[in-house]
Amino acid sequence: MPPENYHSLLWSIIGPPVVGLGLLLVTGLVLLVAVRRRLMRPSAYWLLAGEGIAVSVIVGWIFLSDHQPPPPDFSSRPAEPAQTLAEAAAARGFFLGTITDANGAMEDPVQAVVPRDFNSVTITNHLKWALTLRDGALRDYDFSIADRQVDDALQRGARVRGHVLVWGHLEVPAALVQQVATAEDPAATLTAEMRHHVTTMMKHFEGRIRNWDVVNEPMDYFAPELHRSVFFETLGTRFIDVAFAAAREADPDAQLFLNEQFWSYRGERAMRFLALLEELVDRGVPIDGVGIQAHAFIEPYPAPAELRDFIDQIASFGLVCELTELDVSLRAFRREPDPWRAQADYYEAVTRVARQHPACGGITIWGVSDGDTWYDVAFPFRYLKPNAPLLFDAQMRRKPAYDGVLRGLTEDRD
Ligand code: XIL
Repeated sequence: MPPENYHSLLWSIIGPPVVGLGLLLVTGLVLLVAVRRRLMRPSAYWLLAGEGIAVSVIVGWIFLSDHQPPPPDFSSRPAEPAQTLAEAAAARGFFLGTITDANGAMEDPVQAVVPRDFNSVTITNHLKWALTLRDGALRDYDFSIADRQVDDALQRGARVRGHVLVWGHLEVPAALVQQVATAEDPAATLTAEMRHHVTTMMKHFEGRIRNWDVVNEPMDYFAPELHRSVFFETLGTRFIDVAFAAAREADPDAQLFLNEQFWSYRGERAMRFLALLEELVDRGVPIDGVGIQAHAFIEPYPAPAELRDFIDQIASFGLVCELTELDVSLRAFRREPDPWRAQADYYEAVTRVARQHPACGGITIWGVSDGDTWYDVAFPFRYLKPNAPLLFDAQMRRKPAYDGVLRGLTEDRD
């Protein structure tokens, strides 16, 4: 069963081509009838065909265009907020995080906002398995970029989140898949490679990174079942046990997270995840926390109260949690009188839920500036504009969303 909001995403993607092709088809049919019945002069056929194509192109363009609602009015805003986000977060023992690289449009996003606004930094890409290897060769690591990013964040006084050790959806080394496919004993081969990788990574960054996403996105993106990655296909659910056991052994002081994305915190997929979590905890897998990515881009976005109930469930297993990749696309609010304000209100409510929950230690915002968000380049989100999901606009001006997060951090509500 697809999740409840699956159709909304599907329609967002296939809507524009369907509408465009539909229009072309109607034009074609009208032309055909007109030609067969000799209803018009020959020159009029060309005119009709031209008009049909023009209308289709215009409609397609409107659907796919980069049109964003007018930017917020900054004229009445104070030049500096009364308190920065990092000050507000740190005063409450809370982590507010940013990431090291989005699409590369910003040279050094961390430098722009740490330590002023963020006291935590997630290494966005350069700890992902395939990206740590020199020329893709297994067990041959090049940590030069990751080392630089980690040390820079630490020097700025931030805590660093390690993202990610085992991820079946993306950045799986081709050499690993090949080696497992040709191995005499695929399960033993994969287990050995996973253990080697996890140990190497955690030992290399020991003392610098104390908070790791050990397994990322174990679930299928849509179905309420585990993703059929090389890890799951070879080892079953036990691949999660292997990864966490190796991580605990490598660095007993590190906090170990299972990181997952939810479009709904009540849907079947979320419930399947909670069942998985319960199984893992029951059989003693050394998980400390759950990372809730919290990318908000499939409408309707989950209600903040839904998120709170979900965190309650995680806490009931004795685990902590963090929101690890929050970004809120403007798309869902595009028909509101003030979409930027509506986006800010959502940020505020989600921030408050996380900050007020005793089990939730922090929030990481997945990017700095709207000019450099991964949504604008990644499929399918680049067709789902307006995205503009972050706290600063493309000119690095604070958006209402920034104030929303600040209110969520500082103002209590029931
Ligand atoms: C994204 C990065 O932001 C992009 O720069 C990269 O091209 C693809 O990955 N879930 C995750 C993150 O766990 O690692 C992803 O990050 C976003 C979705």
